[in-house]
Amino acid sequence: MQAHEILRNLRIPELGDVRQYVRTLPTNTLMGFGAFAALTTYWYATRPKALKPPCDLAMQSVETQGGEHARRSTILDSDEVITYYYDDVKTIYDIFQRGRRVSNNGPCLGHRKPNQPYEWISYKEVAERAEYVGSALLHRGFKPSPDQFVGIFAQNRPEWTIVELGCYTYSMVAVPLYDTLGAEAITYIINKADLSVVFCDSPEKAKLLLSNVEKGETPVLRTIVLMNPFDNDLVERGKKCGVELVSLKDIEEEGKANREKPKPPKPDDLAVVCFTSGTTGNPKGAMLSHKNIVSNSAGFMKVTENMLTMNANDIHISYLPLAHMFERLVQCVVLCHGARIGFFQGDIRLLMDDLKVLQPTIFPVVPRLLNRMFDRIFGQANTPVKRWMLDFASKRKEAELRSGIVRNDSFWDKIIFHKVQASLGGKVRLMVTGAAPVSPTVLTFLRAALGCQFYEGYGQTECTAGCSLTIPGDWTAGHVGAPMPCNHVKLVDVEEMNYFASKGEGEVCIKGSNVFQGYLKDDEKTAEALDKDGWLHTGDIGKWLPNGTLKIIDRKKHIFKLAQGEYIAPEKIENVYTRSEPVVQVFVHGESLQAFLVGIVVPDPDNVMNWAKKRKFEGSYEELCKNKDFKNAVLEDLLKLGKEAGLKTFEQVKDIALHSEMFAIENGLLTPTLKAKRPELRKYFKDEIDELYANNKV
Ligand SMILES: *[C@@H]1O[C@H](CO)[C@@H](O)[C@H](O)[C@H]1NC(C)=O
Ligand SMILES: *[C@@H]1O[C@H](CO)[C@@H](O)[C@H](O)[C@H]1NC(C)=O
Repeated sequence: MQAHEILRNLRIPELGDVRQYVRTLPTNTLMGFGAFAALTTYWYATRPKALKPPCDLAMQSVETQGGEHARRSTILDSDEVITYYYDDVKTIYDIFQRGRRVSNNGPCLGHRKPNQPYEWISYKEVAERAEYVGSALLHRGFKPSPDQFVGIFAQNRPEWTIVELGCYTYSMVAVPLYDTLGAEAITYIINKADLSVVFCDSPEKAKLLLSNVEKGETPVLRTIVLMNPFDNDLVERGKKCGVELVSLKDIEEEGKANREKPKPPKPDDLAVVCFTSGTTGNPKGAMLSHKNIVSNSAGFMKVTENMLTMNANDIHISYLPLAHMFERLVQCVVLCHGARIGFFQGDIRLLMDDLKVLQPTIFPVVPRLLNRMFDRIFGQANTPVKRWMLDFASKRKEAELRSGIVRNDSFWDKIIFHKVQASLGGKVRLMVTGAAPVSPTVLTFLRAALGCQFYEGYGQTECTAGCSLTIPGDWTAGHVGAPMPCNHVKLVDVEEMNYFASKGEGEVCIKGSNVFQGYLKDDEKTAEALDKDGWLHTGDIGKWLPNGTLKIIDRKKHIFKLAQGEYIAPEKIENVYTRSEPVVQVFVHGESLQAFLVGIVVPDPDNVMNWAKKRKFEGSYEELCKNKDFKNAVLEDLLKLGKEAGLKTFEQVKDIALHSEMFAIENGLLTPTLKAKRPELRKYFKDEIDELYANNKV
């Protein structure tokens, strides 16, 4: 802001406000920065008013009738959940048709080549190409019906969405596959879902599929459609095992020559089978209907309706895997409003460049990315003065957030946060985080720094994507918001862990129009997830906060007893310990034959050197990981954090081992959704764990 603008906007501050703010500052800080204080006063005087939230923030959910202590969103007028938002949009096919209309056939999907601007294809062209793809399948004998499954095995790109829409245009069902599932799981899915055709992006993926056919593991697969160029050797290799390889372009030509009229699905028809891998066993195929997906997107639109309605000028950056429902759901909301989707180049390392060129307004994120942004911003504030300014500015903006104000044009934005906002393209107005818990410190800081509407959702594939969402106006962190208007949420007793619904704690259960249809051909697993009254049991432990928001506090499954009989929920402990500055990952282990817990800790390669230096430790990252005194220093930091967070003595680790390699999907220690694979971790670190127990005998 220029000085004359500040002056023009200057109004007399309310004295109470200023006093309140001055009181929050330590006196020694107060003395040093007269100029800063004056500017802050201007800022305070010119701050804008908050928008009106959609419901009373002190009562974001209410109990439903029926006596089960279930709760629903206060945004609803009655216990009836919503199933759609626009009268004429009840399937994903309808979503696209609406977008085409309201955008007036505007640009729809965009991609870019390295160092090039985005190239866009229009809604009409997407619809036509989708019809060609679907028509070609019908021409090849596929049925226009919701028991006809079509595999998609590709990174996010325009063709992904075109093929998917091609399925919906003729009532067929999309079955996404993704790399990190591993070859074995892919074989399992192809057989389970009876996939005779898979649309692939690269020849590498086609080769993976072919080798399964060659081994006789997936005889059902007959056709692979390739989006990228491929050579004749691959075609020959396919021929030998009875698989036709054909380019997407040829398929589109075939469909164009044999075009069929669309046969749109009905709301209750199956739309997607979304396979999710658990920590053990085969993947499970969650069956989601059009109604499930439409109602979940409607829930989002309902919550945000007075704050943020998307329109044809909005741009979404698509880089989170389309094989997961979170990204798909965002795309549904985007397409429904005629906005456009720009795809990243396919390399996450180039995401920052893609953001700069695309200048998206909609940016869905996951906690891992947020943590990296947070660390980078603080890493760049490398002098005490810069650090202090950053702290100060974020505190001021956090205070604004608490009064419901979200903006990116304050004094602090202009002098401090402008750079980080510009690094995301400078136009972001909506962010949503989901898929895993985010630290309240990180979320609050980034909400302040980025100055856009930033929601946190919670859910799982079995309820399409989200079952709770923070409400606009409530920019506090540490909870996952209120039930979405498409579902009710209730908590159910978990006696063995001492959680009781009557006390507002228990296993989170969900019922509503977004709850899935069961797992594909797996009645047993379906019965474990869905009870006879239609409640989905999530396995997460939640707690109702006084204002009707939900907080996830624990996980039902990963609990064990120590020798003295105390129940331990290791993930809760890990969540506390990973807040330690020198640490990036923690695995807490215990067993019923042992009296105490031990941990495997991966020091944070980005932060640990600084931290170590301050404590006079020397050596490389590898050397530090082998240094016993250093290990003890890290342990001390963890125990201190644990104590502050209220961990009981038996919940604290007795000893740790440092490990220099991150737990990752590639080394088999994380699931594709980045959850710890606990049985694998236990096996992998068996020697370290045994040694920790041996060295700490009581
Ligand atoms: C600030 O927010 C507005 C509205 O949300 C948006 O249009 C604008 O591009 C944003 N500016 C930056 C720098 O992010
Ligand atoms: C809701 O309650 C929680 C816990 O009491 C609190 O942290 C949060 O700030 C509250 N939200 C609002 C908007 O008051």
